[in-house]
Amino acid sequence: MEFAPFVDLLGGEGAEAWEILTESRIALERGEDVIVLSIGDPDLETPGFVVNAAVDALRNGDTHYTELEGRSSLRSAIASKLSSSAGVRIDPDWVTVLAGTQNAFYSACRCLFGAGDEVIVLDPSYVTYEASIASTGAKQVRVEQPASDGFRPRIDAIEAAVTPATKGIVFSNPSNPTGVALRKEELEAIARLAVDNDLWVVVDEVYSDLVFEGAHHSIVGMPEMLERTVTVSSVSKSYAMTGWRCGWAVGPSELGSHLRKMSLINLYGLPGFIMEAANTALREGGEEIETARAIYKARRNLVLEELGKASEMPLLVPEAGMFLMADVRAHNMNANNFAWDLYRSTGVSVLDAGAFGSTSKGWVRISYGVDEVRLKEACLRIVSFTQT
Ligand SMILES: Cc1ncc(COP(=O)(O)O)c(C=O)c1O
Repeated sequence: MEFAPFVDLLGGEGAEAWEILTESRIALERGEDVIVLSIGDPDLETPGFVVNAAVDALRNGDTHYTELEGRSSLRSAIASKLSSSAGVRIDPDWVTVLAGTQNAFYSACRCLFGAGDEVIVLDPSYVTYEASIASTGAKQVRVEQPASDGFRPRIDAIEAAVTPATKGIVFSNPSNPTGVALRKEELEAIARLAVDNDLWVVVDEVYSDLVFEGAHHSIVGMPEMLERTVTVSSVSKSYAMTGWRCGWAVGPSELGSHLRKMSLINLYGLPGFIMEAANTALREGGEEIETARAIYKARRNLVLEELGKASEMPLLVPEAGMFLMADVRAHNMNANNFAWDLYRSTGVSVLDAGAFGSTSKGWVRISYGVDEVRLKEACLRIVSFTQT
């Protein structure tokens, strides 16, 4: 039997880099001495009071279909969170609750882009953007943010990539894989480009609560951006709730009405008890965010210190998130081979960052989503591997 051409768009170029994650997880389950630093799933527990909110809701019979756009109290909590990082009033009606940042990103792309459009993606970028954009029929135009510039956006290059067919600019802020948190001036420059060329901006802010120094800036708050920005995010990383699948898209109300229809055909609303838990996290989880940020910052510092002892492996200091990029180009093998050799000889699994785009070829992405004892052990193994 034949499948639709759509299925060929689902993989994306970087898909095979994930084999190392699959293999190392299986080895871990077999009880082998493996340390998995190739994924960004927080090892922290979802806070107990958040779990209780879900359990209470379940016990109270919150087990039926729900509002397609999400519960109003949750939408208000999301709107007020974004209002405070953007410095502008976000109307709760502009919020659609969806199944994680990923689902929100995909849904937004389907509503904004189509055949004949070009979408600028800042490279390196989170892997799933490629297939999400491809599924709309639009062409992805990747603009390099070179390693030599610390993977920061090259505004002149973005501007040069704009053509009459350009419909939008897509990026994550802070970035996965680089951990770069965009400065206010960088966002203002991207916003100006978007306004001048009448473009959508789709920004993924899933790591916005994990900025280590200074504030997170939301591009939606910049002049004339309210009507052209779609901000997607979730409770996944901020409250260690990746498995709960609760996220959102915030954009102009007309987009909301389209997203509502998308939810009708492919989701039919999130479970009520999940939304109650997310609402509780957003309203009462301020301290948990502070704790998570402090934990990741301490781990980042540990990794920087320990991997600083590695031989010929320059590091990029992450400003946010749970990943660190290491340049392995001096090791005379491509980053995928480096990752596999490292894994086979030490049991530490990291990811070939070439999976995130051509700009990050020659780098590996190292997650610090494991506790400090395992993390230190992993660093010691990586350091000794680089010295052999
Ligand atoms: C940049 C980025 N966006 C989205 C996601 C997925 O987030 P969610 O669990 O909210 O779908 C991830 C997960 O690693 C990510 O790194």
